[in-house]
Amino acid sequence: MTDTAALETLEQDVLAQIAAATDEAGLDAVRVGALGKKGSVSLMMRSLGGMSPEERQVMGPALNGLKDRLGSAIEARKAMLEAAALDLALASETIDVSLPVRPEPKGSIHPITQVMEELAVIFADMGFAVAEGSDVEDDFHNFTALNFPEGHPARDTQDTFFMKPDAEGQRKVLRTHTSPVQIRTMMSQTPPIRIIAPGRVYRCDWDQTHTPMFHQVEGLVIDRETHMGHLKGVLQDFLAAFFETDEVVTRFRPHHFPFTEPSAEMDVRYERVGQAVKVGSGDQWMEILGCGMVHPNVIRNCGLDPDEYQGFAFGMGVDRLAMLKYGAPDLRDFFNSDQRWLGHYGFSPLLQANMATGLS
Ligand code: PHE
Repeated sequence: MTDTAALETLEQDVLAQIAAATDEAGLDAVRVGALGKKGSVSLMMRSLGGMSPEERQVMGPALNGLKDRLGSAIEARKAMLEAAALDLALASETIDVSLPVRPEPKGSIHPITQVMEELAVIFADMGFAVAEGSDVEDDFHNFTALNFPEGHPARDTQDTFFMKPDAEGQRKVLRTHTSPVQIRTMMSQTPPIRIIAPGRVYRCDWDQTHTPMFHQVEGLVIDRETHMGHLKGVLQDFLAAFFETDEVVTRFRPHHFPFTEPSAEMDVRYERVGQAVKVGSGDQWMEILGCGMVHPNVIRNCGLDPDEYQGFAFGMGVDRLAMLKYGAPDLRDFFNSDQRWLGHYGFSPLLQANMATGLS
């Protein structure tokens, strides 16, 4: 027969088991043993039916109380075990964020991309926007609008990749320079214009310093008052920023381009220091870019009045700048996709060029 004394013994017993459970599975076994369908408490509950009403009046509430107390004790123990398990996991899964990342980073920024980003940063600082054209151009944008006379040698198949004639019989070309972006910009914007246009260009040429595809950056400024002095100042400042030195000695040599008048090539002083090239000072001159005042015919061809508007343009080889700044000797290596070369000459994708903390 069940009596309250037996209940008390049972309660002490189960409470002891609860306290002794060291994990959630063990605790659940205790719960099933007491409160489960065939658990000790449940069996006693079931025996209530066979008791006399007086007995039931005592035992009913006593059993219900016991059930509640055991239930709460189990819940409390469960919460405690969960918290302890979480603490243990947190303690064993700590991460040392000061360690280098794993797996080690593999990708890197190609020197040409790096240089193009540096150029964009430097010229943005001087108020230039970035403009783009397309690699496939028509004769008008690549030559005619740029004041190339009919039959100019640069139109010759020697330099230019011509496409097959299209449906209208037009022979498109792979642009031979970024200067067509001058035309596209002047025809779609109203001055004042200040843009640079970095991108791929194509010429039929292949040796240590020439590849059939290479990169240029074009510059164009058009407004009412811009003159050759501004051109010199901008390029001088650009070179100082790009080569990260205060000391840049340049010279302008008269030259000829159909789309600028007067035209010049700009040379920069340099010297060899072992394998590397130091740009800015030294006793040798290196040609670095072509430039000039935009030819009135070009301004007129774009629908602007050359009596009202004038400005300058320049164009330079990005690959060459990259070779000079980062000391890669052979241009062809730039396009071989050799992982070892990229590992050596590449840049971290996490370090972006900017004027505040340095370009490279
Ligand atoms: N387009 C010329 C070249 O490819 C460079 C240039 C650009 C010269 C703009 C003058 C002005 O050689």
